[in-house]
Amino acid sequence: MWCLLVTVGKLESEKLAIFIVSTTGQGDPPDMMKIFWKFLLRRSLSTAWLKSLKFAVFGLGDSGYLQYNVVGKKLDRRLHDLGGMPIIERGLGDDQHPSGYEASLDPWLVSLWTAMASISGRPYALHTLSYDNLALDRPKYNIIICKTSSEVSTRKVGDLEEVNRAVRMLDSADAMHGVKETVDFSVICPRNPYLARMVCNKRLTRNFSEREVHHIEFDLGSSGLTYEPGDALAVMPSQSEVMVDAFMNRCCLDPDSIVLVQAASKQNDFWQGDSNMNKPVTVRTLVQSVMDIASASPRRYFLEVMSHFATAEHEKERLRYFVSPEGRDDLYQYNQRERRTVLEVLEDFPSVQLPLEWLLQLVPRLQPRLFSISSSLIMHPNQVHITVAVQKWRTPLKRTRHGLCSTWLSCLEPQKGEIYVPIWCKKGLKFPDASMPLLLVGPGTGCAPFRALIEERVAMSVVSGVAPIMFFFGCRQEQDDFLYKDFWLAQAEDSGVLSTTKGGGFFAAFSRDQPRKVYVQHKIEEYSAKVWAMLQSGCAVYVAGSAVKMPADVFAALEKVVMKEGCQSEDAARKWLKHLERVGRYHVEAW
Ligand code: 2AM
Repeated sequence: MWCLLVTVGKLESEKLAIFIVSTTGQGDPPDMMKIFWKFLLRRSLSTAWLKSLKFAVFGLGDSGYLQYNVVGKKLDRRLHDLGGMPIIERGLGDDQHPSGYEASLDPWLVSLWTAMASISGRPYALHTLSYDNLALDRPKYNIIICKTSSEVSTRKVGDLEEVNRAVRMLDSADAMHGVKETVDFSVICPRNPYLARMVCNKRLTRNFSEREVHHIEFDLGSSGLTYEPGDALAVMPSQSEVMVDAFMNRCCLDPDSIVLVQAASKQNDFWQGDSNMNKPVTVRTLVQSVMDIASASPRRYFLEVMSHFATAEHEKERLRYFVSPEGRDDLYQYNQRERRTVLEVLEDFPSVQLPLEWLLQLVPRLQPRLFSISSSLIMHPNQVHITVAVQKWRTPLKRTRHGLCSTWLSCLEPQKGEIYVPIWCKKGLKFPDASMPLLLVGPGTGCAPFRALIEERVAMSVVSGVAPIMFFFGCRQEQDDFLYKDFWLAQAEDSGVLSTTKGGGFFAAFSRDQPRKVYVQHKIEEYSAKVWAMLQSGCAVYVAGSAVKMPADVFAALEKVVMKEGCQSEDAARKWLKHLERVGRYHVEAW
């Protein structure tokens, strides 16, 4: 599959554009698409602006969310409204489908190649139709070996400067169409993270309990970083050295050799004038800081390339079967369901020896992880706090998996020595000002942004009045994972911002303290009269949390409240709540 990246100004002069677009968050376009999308929505664009453009859209989404694939659908409609001509019906990939995106991608690709063949009048290499004679593309990187390890006198351990250089070197090689991006090194951003000192790492859940949640604090030092309640903290994780060594062993990489990575095609060398960006790095730094070797479920193309390098016939055959349309379901079982890591897949096919340029291209880039900020900057000047649930799960074959960033963070011990973590801040939920009453629902670590918000209102209440807040919190057991218990209970007292006497309240649902599950939505129904009074007062509703079904269950509970207390039909109640959503008074942040 290939995808065309279109720069905004050029779209109207393109003849054909293929869009592969994902829906993120609560129906938002991905970050890299935001400028493009804003441009496309301009009223000044005429309905014939794209009259010479033929296009096709494939959306990537998750039907577990209310706004399923909404970005793909909207983009398709907008291109159509601007005069563009779809060459095939839009395709929608669903992450919830038992066979993953491929279930709808495969037939869509067949239609796409067929339509393109008929437009151009010449047959395309129908990738999805015939895997047998598949030619291997050229890798997009060139690796230049500057020194082998035998020529290196001292072993260098990658410092941040070298890590940043490795990351930027890849960015440079990745940039398409010669787009020159400048990095302002006075601004803290993904390419220029701040090394924040960790000052506290405390387990919030009881020791030995199944759930492990940590409260982590960083000092912002002289960074000048600021944030508001609702924002997120991006953390760049570190990979375990043991795993990195295992990967280099498996791939026969020489960790201490020094290399330069360049784009295979000339036009992409936008750092060329910058000698600092052209300094080579060690292979160890590249693997450690750029390649997410523990990432799960390598893409089908990864296995496709592996099939070319397999020297054992039975491995070649198995890989070819996996990447064929007939093997799609088996590949899903092997790969996605079991969440096999890149390293495990490579270990399953020992005859495959991928060269470094292919590994760089195929292994996903190590990504930052986002955590809702759980502190108020007014309450904790020069600090930022996060609430981290350590991710651990079992695969269908009963193998235990650990989340990379949460596990790494949870093991850091700032009391034993100075620890620095690369971070930056990212805009997130926007909360209204302190005069707006609030109905908050945040089970588990969903309470994190609300701790930030409530702290901020506590700080503000010292100088001015603040509107009432009602907060529904949920956890498994009161004695086990009642996160920030003392803080909520103190604020629920008469003088606090959650106090019932002021029209607010704090309500906790403990799901496993009794035989029957009690969730936040049950508490909402139990206190329906109070909730209705709050909704009637013109409050804004915020729902946050990680339970997949929770936002829909909470919506249903609120619907029941409106029906019962507002004497409305089910249909009218739904419309009433949907109206809140439309006017920006109902927000969901699920992860
Ligand atoms: P459970 O683990 O006992 O099912 C924080 O994770 C809390 O959210 C836990 O008490 C968890 O309960 C609960 N939770 C799980 N699914 C939920 C849902 N659909 N709605 C509300 N809370 C849910």
